Parts: sequence; structure tokens; C-alpha cells
Amino acid sequence: MAEETAAEYHSKDFEWEELRLEVENDPSLRYHLTPFISSACSSDATTDEADAWRSFHRRHSAGKFFKERRYLLKEFPELIHSGDSIQVLEVGCGNGSTVLPILRAKQSTIVYACDCSEEVLKTTREIVATASGASLDNRLHTFVLDLSVYNFPDWLFCASCQRNSGSKHVSSSDSRDEKAGKLNAPYFLTEDQCCIGGVDFVTLIFTLSAIPFHRMSSVIEKCLCVLKPGQFLLFRDYGLYDMTMLRFLPEQRVGFCEYMRSDGTFSYFFSLDTARDLFTGAGFIELELEYCCITSVNRRSGKKMQRVWVHGKFQKPV
Ligand SMILES: C[S@@+](CC[C@H](N)C(=O)[O-])C[C@H]1O[C@@H](n2cnc3c(N)ncnc32)[C@H](O)[C@@H]1O
Repeated sequence: MAEETAAEYHSKDFEWEELRLEVENDPSLRYHLTPFISSACSSDATTDEADAWRSFHRRHSAGKFFKERRYLLKEFPELIHSGDSIQVLEVGCGNGSTVLPILRAKQSTIVYACDCSEEVLKTTREIVATASGASLDNRLHTFVLDLSVYNFPDWLFCASCQRNSGSKHVSSSDSRDEKAGKLNAPYFLTEDQCCIGGVDFVTLIFTLSAIPFHRMSSVIEKCLCVLKPGQFLLFRDYGLYDMTMLRFLPEQRVGFCEYMRSDGTFSYFFSLDTARDLFTGAGFIELELEYCCITSVNRRSGKKMQRVWVHGKFQKPV
């Protein structure tokens, strides 16, 4: 699904404004821009999109979609340069494309990784266990979570430690969280430890676009709660007018800038304004937010492809 190489990081092969003019003046693409009247939102305890992702991972359990995101450390060098020992939470980790470079970056980094699919977490653990280099798998902790429905488990940052850290944004527990976290207190917590005290980084790499738009604010608020005050959320995802957006057919639209693939998985394309509203609206401070515009060429057809990604870095207020 997501697809970049190390050389393509942070490039600006074309101006996004030029692409915008081209797209907005093309009558054949007008249906992407018309307002969309949304249908009723579901608040069930399992979500269709999470089920669609679980089926996707079952069909692709060989992990052939795995491609290590080597460019990630160039985009987010703080994953190498900050502090002695950092704790990172990768949200919607898929088969570990983001987990692996982060683990490799520093011997002392601990990565917590969640996904709604148990199957894909197994693949991630296998990929990390067999990856070359120093032993990585003892620094990776995975857990299953449908983030559209449940809060992060208490053992990441319990409400009382959140309050003691001076956090303005404290996660509110409800009965559904029992299932998500408390029952599964992880083995690496000592008996006198209630939680790990929050994380230094949350990574949301091509995951937010996979979640229906009406659930995104709540997912971002949950991410804010598990961060230590002053720490960072690193964001990369599909940008408005990316080539893959323009390929969707009118009947695949399920919202404004939101589409459903034939397998039931969602894809959203972010403008900078929408990303800004979502993250600052949840309580984050914006540090970096920009389009990355990259032209790649299809090796077989020679056809040019204009890719647009959104890069963002946000901070939890102290
Ligand atoms: C495009 S993949 C991104 C994977 C990874 N972050 C990376 O860098 O390659 C999106 C992931 O989000 C997961 N996902 C989708 N909806 C989710 C939900 N409601 N809760 C948790 N994970 C979800 C999917 O299972 C999938 O693995």
C-alpha cells in the first residue's frame, strides 16, 4: 500500500499548488471535489474497517507487503538523536515497516506496537525476530487493539500517573477499556509498576487514513493521552490529490476525500488544513506540517506518477 524509497524522502519534485490547479480545472476529476452528504456513523464494539483490515492481513499473511521505511529516520531524525533511552508507540503497525527502522536506529529504544489484527502482529514479530543486526525482538512489545473502539491500555500511562505528570489531557476510562488493556497487564511491568509512564513518541504512519474520518479526532486524542508532556507525535500519510486518490471511482467515495477500496479498507487524503485542524483540535502544538511531492516513474509503462504525502510533527503541551 504505502510506497517510498530512501532516496525519495522529503523531496519536492513539483509544487503542490500547481497540481491543485491542474486537478481542480479538470472536469473529469470534478466528482472528487463535490460536497459529500455522509450517512449514519456506527459506534459498534467492532468496526467494519477493522474487520476489513483483519481480512486483508489474513490474505497477505506472507508479509509480502513488507517494505522497510528506511527514509523514516531522515524524516524524523529525533528517533536517533533524542535522549538515552526512548519509548516509541507505533500505532497501526501493519507488518512492521516502521517498527524495524526505529528498532535498528538505537540499541536502547523500546517499541510498543499495536494493530487491530492479531495475525499481522505475528508477522511483525517474525520479521523483527529474523531481521539482521543486533537482537531487536526483545525490545518490541506488541498488543492487539481496535483503536476506533477502545482506549490504549492503562499499562501505557494510567490515569493517575497522567494526572501526576501534570497532563491536561487525561484518558477517561470506560468499561470497554477493561477488555482492551487492564486484563492484559504485560510481563515486563514489575509488581510495583502501575504503567510504563507514557511514551516519548507516537508514530502514526499511514494509519490515520485507514480509519474513518469521523473517528479520527478521538484516535488522535487517545494518542495525545499516552504521550509524556512535551513529547512528540510523528505523522506521515496520504496527501490531497495524490495519484491514488484520483484513481478512485465516483462510487468508491464514502466521504469528502474519503474512499473505500473494493476490499472494504478505507483511505483518506489529507489537506494540510484538515491535518492541522485534527491535531491542534485534539490539543497538539504544530511543529512541522507540509506536503511532500514526489514524481516517480512506472518502470514498465514509463508513466509518471505524482505522489503526495503529508509530513507532520506535533508536540504535546507541557
Ligand atoms: C497502511 S497500514 C500502515 C502500517 C504501518 N504503520 C506502516 O508504516 O507500514 C495501516 C494499518 O492500520 C491498521 N488499522 C486499521 N484500522 C485500525 C484500527 N481501528 N485500530 C488499529 N489498527 C488499525 C491496519 O490493520 C494496518 O495494519
